[in-house]
Amino acid sequence: MSKAIKRNSQQYLYQQVISMVLEMQASGTLRPGDKLPSLRKLSQQLSLSIPTVKLAYTELERQNVIVAKPKSGYFMKPNLKLLDIPTRGKLGRSPTQVNNQSLIEQVYEALHLPDMVSLGIANPSSAHPCDKALARIMRQVLSKAGAKAISYAPTTGYAPLKRQLALRYFDYGLQLNPDEVIVTNGAQEALSIALQCVARKGDVIAIESPAFFGVLELIESLGMMALEIPVCSDDGIWLTDLVTGINKHSIKACLFSTSINNPTGSFMPDDKRKELVELLESHNIPLIEDDVYGDLYFTKNRGIPAQCYAKKGLVLTCSSFSKTAAPGYRIGWLIAGQFEAQARRLKRALSCSSSLINQWTLAEFIAGSEYDRNMQKLREILKLNKARMLACIQDTFPQETKASNPKGGGVAWVELPTKIDSEELFHMAIEQNISITPGVIFSASKKFKNYIRLSYGMPWTDQVENAIKTLGQLISSQQ
Ligand SMILES: Cc1ncc(COP(=O)(O)O)c(C=O)c1O
Repeated sequence: MSKAIKRNSQQYLYQQVISMVLEMQASGTLRPGDKLPSLRKLSQQLSLSIPTVKLAYTELERQNVIVAKPKSGYFMKPNLKLLDIPTRGKLGRSPTQVNNQSLIEQVYEALHLPDMVSLGIANPSSAHPCDKALARIMRQVLSKAGAKAISYAPTTGYAPLKRQLALRYFDYGLQLNPDEVIVTNGAQEALSIALQCVARKGDVIAIESPAFFGVLELIESLGMMALEIPVCSDDGIWLTDLVTGINKHSIKACLFSTSINNPTGSFMPDDKRKELVELLESHNIPLIEDDVYGDLYFTKNRGIPAQCYAKKGLVLTCSSFSKTAAPGYRIGWLIAGQFEAQARRLKRALSCSSSLINQWTLAEFIAGSEYDRNMQKLREILKLNKARMLACIQDTFPQETKASNPKGGGVAWVELPTKIDSEELFHMAIEQNISITPGVIFSASKKFKNYIRLSYGMPWTDQVENAIKTLGQLISSQQ
């Protein structure tokens, strides 16, 4: 057993103990009701200190995996019932005009109210912030480059950052010229430019259902129509529904999270992603891939961006550092394939360029090993937080509650009993200083009335746990 503890690992020792118990549970070695070794015994077996093992056991208790019985020791929790996953959605009957602005505005406003427990914001990097590293690098850049660092950047971005990004795509076997990367103001600007490259007012865009509400706002503001393709909470959109959609409607482009979906946390496997690109290319339909959560995977490996499977230049990749490092820097990028010239023109017209000092800082950050080390830790923390949140939901929400089991990212998608109106719940929660995201804003046709999105991407505290408990009570009172 002690061989499993690696002292030179990036993982904390107590987290390795947690992983060990979870793996033994997954393999069926540890079963409900089994007694765990005492703190003293396990610490001796693993050559760890008693407080380290105690920390791991306490954490496993919080995750509802084990229970402490006074004077008896620690036991695997008996018959833990897993939450069911949310119900399978239906393909939209026809393309829909989007009109969700006012509720989205209220959701954004709630995020910035003072003293809020922010279960409504998708800001996963805050669970393990890299502000100190970025501040140090930024100071170095300023002292090295002086006023040059706060000048305008070239329209398509700071060349060393573009090179670093191209190098990262080379990891997946993609030979990308740095000139093909266009740096944008967050992924949101990349998505906006991409949509304007491939479609016009009135055109039909196939999107996921549920979809990130920022995408819905873009489609609404550009006067386009949305066709909603259901997402399986396990592995991304249902391809069979997409094929039906293509056969029935004149789809101008698709916009999907190719890696991890916000809000379900589903993860599209590589072979499915390849099949998606082949399907769309065979119909000459451009695919806008939203890969902002790509680096926050809980699976064994990161998903390969759909761009890597493109043969006709019809994939437009949008991503950013907003979920992994610094949302406030507003640095994202677009790889526009055959639409590159149009995309450059649009970038110039829309915002001229993106912040040079922020690009410069990020270029240096990702060039070293610090970014990757930070990501590894962030993924571990998010995975742990996910387990804590699901355990808390299971304990405190009504029995009929279903929840996605995210394979990455920082949010979970929760289906509440059908009677619950999540918009009403949103207002009730605000009164208790808790922000949540109501389900309707994730749909063009206002589906998901009884769904909410909850974020676990934050430092985990008793305050967060209490907020989830309070939500459970509010839901019970609505029933
Ligand atoms: C799925 C998805 N795409 C795009 C964005 C926008 O990212 P950015 O903050 O980089 O503009 C977000 C932000 O919440 C998101 O969740």
